[in-house]
Amino acid sequence: MDWETFFAVHRGLPREGPGAPDDVAWACALAGLPEDASICDAGCGPGGDIDALLAAAPGARVVAVDRMASFVAEADARFAGDPRVSVMEGDLGALPGPFDMIWCAGALYFLGLQDGLAAMARALKPRGVLAFSEPCFFTEAPGAEARAFWEGYPARSAEGIAAAAGAAGFEVLGTRKVPDAGWEAYYRPMEARISALRPGADARLSEMLDLCAAEAATWRRVKGETGYLLCVARLT
Ligand SMILES: C[S@@+](CC[C@H](N)C(=O)[O-])C[C@H]1O[C@@H](n2cnc3c(N)ncnc32)[C@H](O)[C@@H]1O
Repeated sequence: MDWETFFAVHRGLPREGPGAPDDVAWACALAGLPEDASICDAGCGPGGDIDALLAAAPGARVVAVDRMASFVAEADARFAGDPRVSVMEGDLGALPGPFDMIWCAGALYFLGLQDGLAAMARALKPRGVLAFSEPCFFTEAPGAEARAFWEGYPARSAEGIAAAAGAAGFEVLGTRKVPDAGWEAYYRPMEARISALRPGADARLSEMLDLCAAEAATWRRVKGETGYLLCVARLT
C-alpha cells in the first residue's frame, strides 16, 4: 500500500468504512447494556461511530482502538477533553479489556472471521456482546464483480456468518444489512476529496484516486448482491 497517497485521500474523512448511527443504536439496544458499560470501538478509524455509541449508552466509557497512528490521532482530537472516551493505538488481536460490548465496524475481517471472533471473545466479559459488520453475499449466486469486490476475502452468506459466530461461542441476537445510506456516508465524503485532489494530481496520486473512485462505483453496481451484514452476538 502506498500510504502517502492513501492518506492524501483518506486523511480527515468523517469515517473510514460503511456505517450508520441507527445501526449503532440498534446494536446497543439489542445488547441491553449496563448503565456504566465499558465499550470498545475496535478498529475505530477516525472515530466516526463514537458519538453514536455515547448517544446510545450515555453512561458508558468508550475505549477506541486502531493500529493506524494517524486515525488514532484524528479520533483523539475529535474527543479531546471528553472523559468518557480514550483512544489508543493497538491491535485487534490483543485488545485490552474485558468489555461489556465490542463494536467492530468493518474491521474484524482484517483478522479473518474465525480469528477475529476468537480475538473479540478474549476481550469480552462473560456474556459480553460483540457487534461486527462482515462482508456478506445477499444472493446465492453472486456475480463475478460482486465476488471480486472483496479482493479474495471469503465473504459468506448471512447463515455462514451466524454459523461462524455460533462456532466461536456466541449466541446471535440479531443480524441486518448495513443500509446503503451507511455506504454513502463513507463514499460521498471520499468522492468529494477525490474531486478536490484531481486537478494537478501526479501519476502516483491519480492512480490512488482512480482506485478509490472505482471502489465506490463498483459497490454501487454490486450493492444488491453484496455488502456488510451487521451481526450482534452474545458470548454464551
Ligand atoms: C474499514 S476501516 C473502518 C473504520 C471505522 N470502524 C469506521 O467504520 O469508520 C477498518 C479499520 O480497522 C483498522 N484495523 C485493521 N486491522 C487492524 C488491526 N489488526 N488492529 C487494529 N486496527 C486494525 C484500520 O486501521 C481501519 O481504521
